[in-house]
Amino acid sequence: MPARLVVLVSGTGTNLQALLDACDEPGYGASVVGVGADRAATGGVERARSAGVPTFELALQAFSTREEWDAALTAKVAAFEPDLVLSAGFLKLVGTSFLRRFGGRFVNTHNALLPSFPGIHGPRDAIDHGVRITGATLFVVDEGVDTGAIVEQVAVRVENGDDVETLTQRIKAAERVMLVEQIGRMAREGFTIDGRKVTIP
Ligand code: GRF
Repeated sequence: MPARLVVLVSGTGTNLQALLDACDEPGYGASVVGVGADRAATGGVERARSAGVPTFELALQAFSTREEWDAALTAKVAAFEPDLVLSAGFLKLVGTSFLRRFGGRFVNTHNALLPSFPGIHGPRDAIDHGVRITGATLFVVDEGVDTGAIVEQVAVRVENGDDVETLTQRIKAAERVMLVEQIGRMAREGFTIDGRKVTIP
């Protein structure tokens, strides 16, 4: 049986699309069983619908407290009985109820080489800092902001003349390949987390 994967999105969902395409390949080892968003009308949810994958949208503003939103998010995701949950451009921090339920099998992809440039402006911060190498990081989510144990990273060169948009797109291209490869490996082989070390056998 393929591993059951739930993907959380806020944006265009190009990473999600790459995973949906990979899951069509026999032997990939994972299946996207649900997609959730924190807002209406995301490209990600649109892509899921086109692929026939069940979706939900849970806006934080629809709840009186963040805890209530987090509990609702936890319940929605849990209903899909996922083996692995991926945040792919999901722009909200989850809370304690979500982490209690999915901690250790909730991973996030970030568009910088952590621990450099956490937060939502990875490519902009990399350009502003003047680094020549940045990239993307897949990590296991913990209570911090982009602080969890690292599963894999891919390096991307910052070219002369790059702006935020060109760098963002170059990172995304490398990120997609890394993500599809690593999620497949995690799904097929399983993985262990020992402190900051994540091992896929
Ligand atoms: C990715 O680059 C991810 O690292 C960042 O947001 C982007 C999501 O893009 N947090 P998409 O929605 O998958 O196209």
